[in-house]
Amino acid sequence: MSVHRHTFTGWLLLLLHVSASAVRLNLLGRQRNPALQEGDVRLFGGGGFAEGRVEIYHDGRWGTVCDDGWDLAEAHVVCRQLGFPRADSVVIGKNYGKASGPIWLDDLKCDGTETYLSTCMFIGWGATDCSHKEDVGVICETGRTNLTNGDALYSLDHSICLSDERGQIFDSGYGCDFSISVRSATGNAQEDGTPEVVGETICAHKSILSQFPLFNASKGISNITVDVAQSCQPHFSSFIRYIYTRKMDVNFSSVQCLHWMAYTFGVKQLMEDTGRLFSEILPEDASFHTPVSLYEYAVETQDWVLQENCIQYMAWNYQNLSSSPAWTQLSVELLRSLLLRSDLVVPDEYFLLQTVESWITEKGNSTSLETQAELLSLIRFPMIPAEALNDLESNSSLYSSHVNMYRDNLLKAFQFNVLLFGNLISNPKFNREDGDYRPRIYTAKPWSKALSRQTQYLYRNHYDSMTTSLNTPVHNSLIFKDNQILWEANVFENKQQCSNRGVRCESFPSARLVPQNGLSRWRNVLYRNRLLLMCQDKYVFQVQDFKDNMATNGTQVLAYPCPDDQYTYRFVVRPYYV
Ligand SMILES: *[C@@H]1O[C@H](CO)[C@@H](O)[C@H](O)[C@H]1NC(C)=O
Ligand SMILES: *[C@@H]1O[C@H](CO)[C@@H](O)[C@H](O)[C@H]1NC(C)=O
Ligand SMILES: *[C@@H]1O[C@H](CO)[C@@H](O)[C@H](O)[C@H]1NC(C)=O
Ligand SMILES: *[C@@H]1O[C@H](CO)[C@@H](O)[C@H](O)[C@H]1NC(C)=O
Ligand SMILES: *[C@@H]1O[C@H](CO)[C@@H](O)[C@H](O)[C@H]1NC(C)=O
Ligand SMILES: *[C@@H]1O[C@H](CO)[C@@H](O)[C@H](O)[C@H]1NC(C)=O
Ligand SMILES: *[C@@H]1O[C@H](CO)[C@@H](O)[C@H](O)[C@H]1NC(C)=O
Ligand SMILES: *[C@@H]1O[C@H](CO)[C@@H](O)[C@H](O)[C@H]1NC(C)=O
Repeated sequence: MSVHRHTFTGWLLLLLHVSASAVRLNLLGRQRNPALQEGDVRLFGGGGFAEGRVEIYHDGRWGTVCDDGWDLAEAHVVCRQLGFPRADSVVIGKNYGKASGPIWLDDLKCDGTETYLSTCMFIGWGATDCSHKEDVGVICETGRTNLTNGDALYSLDHSICLSDERGQIFDSGYGCDFSISVRSATGNAQEDGTPEVVGETICAHKSILSQFPLFNASKGISNITVDVAQSCQPHFSSFIRYIYTRKMDVNFSSVQCLHWMAYTFGVKQLMEDTGRLFSEILPEDASFHTPVSLYEYAVETQDWVLQENCIQYMAWNYQNLSSSPAWTQLSVELLRSLLLRSDLVVPDEYFLLQTVESWITEKGNSTSLETQAELLSLIRFPMIPAEALNDLESNSSLYSSHVNMYRDNLLKAFQFNVLLFGNLISNPKFNREDGDYRPRIYTAKPWSKALSRQTQYLYRNHYDSMTTSLNTPVHNSLIFKDNQILWEANVFENKQQCSNRGVRCESFPSARLVPQNGLSRWRNVLYRNRLLLMCQDKYVFQVQDFKDNMATNGTQVLAYPCPDDQYTYRFVVRPYYV
């Protein structure tokens, strides 16, 4: 019995998530057999991150590189060839798993600026006096924010009433009656041209595995064969042991493999637990390849929670996403899903339009005109600042290709800006529920202001809350331009600070945003304000609503980590017509 899973290539892509070759494959539409090129390099055995044994593809086979003459200059070339900014360090003498292929390169001399490792100087392919013990490894710099500890172990424990003996039963293999043959292709071809496969056999108990029907352990079958990525193979036996004990330690090297195994065999609890750990990884990758590939993976595995987690992170950090290397890698479906959301955090709607135009332009004519028009029409034109509307015809690079779409939407936007709400709704074309009249989370002036502990610290004492104020128009429609509202924003860190302002706080820190002058005049306008929590000024990790002027945890699926609580508060005012 053999498992051939169509998601497997997708999984391999995921394991390569930050490498340039993954980007290339995705753009080519997820080919099952990625065409390897002479001189391609890969990092092997590091478990999915930017670390591993250096291998180079030559003459149809992957081979290793000897550490003689190897230093950072050579490592930089490998990392840049893979799409990383540079190398972090050289690893010598670490075992990244068994290497069986040839040793292709020795006594390599690079000056560090080469684009391909194969263009550095060396004696000749395969000319070496080294053994595999001298294979070299590298760790590449990912531009990750280095916020979490890569070696951190997370302990999962659902063993409630299972005895520890179950682990010993598995370890001893005593009385086992079900054999699992775990196989991985090394990527090399054997002499006769067939793929080289390595593997191990695990012996388990039908009575225990039969809780998960996908193992087929209850059907009179006594052996199965499972194909896994080679970098996942070392984790397979921990996975089976988990089925016995419901306990396991997971780290960043194993989390992706374990999620895939849990998905493959329908172990829901483990899938959820590992899915939750993924959210710790998202902020680590400034290149945004991780959230994008994880999102695609979640779609494939129909893991809705993981999918929402990834897309929410991208929505909250849209501005960085749109200037990241992963931007042009976004699929139409992912971009569409993002544009449908009201929790996109962007400076303003015009910025959003520009990013969509740039995505379309970069994709060239690979996106049909219909799809382009559909994506552009997800822009909420009435929300574009009035100053930008005037320039739109001359500044928009796609105006001439989509004249009708732009014209209709500009008309709608101009009407919105010059008509009062009462007059707008008398127009049968105006739909109260129309998303185009609803703001997203705009961080540009005048709608938003930041407050951080660092900037305020010097000027206040323990008893004063952090405080600032901002002025906004009553509404973002142009007719309200001269009707201003003054808001006061506070962050309270202790009881004293709250009682000094006569505020009841339930927990600390607590944030408040209060209008200072009468809102009651504007009965048709309601505020759905938001508080953004920014970690170390690098990424948004939480978005909160306001209730009775106090910030409360919204309905978010999950918050992302922010070490040392080094955060900045950003208050955003969002007027809605009601
Ligand atoms: C279990 O049986 C089904 C149906 O025969 C088969 O498609 C599947 O690959 C088997 N699973 C494993 C893990 O062998
Ligand atoms: C990342 O963390 C490691 C270990 O804590 C530290 O040695 C290294 O200097 C950090 N790198 C950056 C770029 O901050
Ligand atoms: C992760 O855990 C595995 C086994 O649980 C271990 O072999 C590996 O060294 C760990 N990796 C890191 C980076 O800690
Ligand atoms: C697997 O089981 C089948 C019968 O269910 C048997 O014919 C076959 O020899 C077994 N293979 C191994 C490797 O044990
Ligand atoms: C987002 O962009 C800002 C400004 O360019 C930068 O300082 C920050 O590090 C970026 N954050 C991430 C997670 O890439
Ligand atoms: C895309 O544009 C290029 C150059 O403008 C042209 O050669 C090619 O045929 C176009 N492809 C499609 C599918 O329209
Ligand atoms: C439109 O382009 C002109 C000229 O490049 C520029 O001065 C103006 O600021 C642009 N308008 C907007 C809204 O970006
Ligand atoms: C919001 O929720 C997070 C995690 O669920 C919790 O740690 C935090 O204390 C909550 N904040 C407030 C203001 O309730």
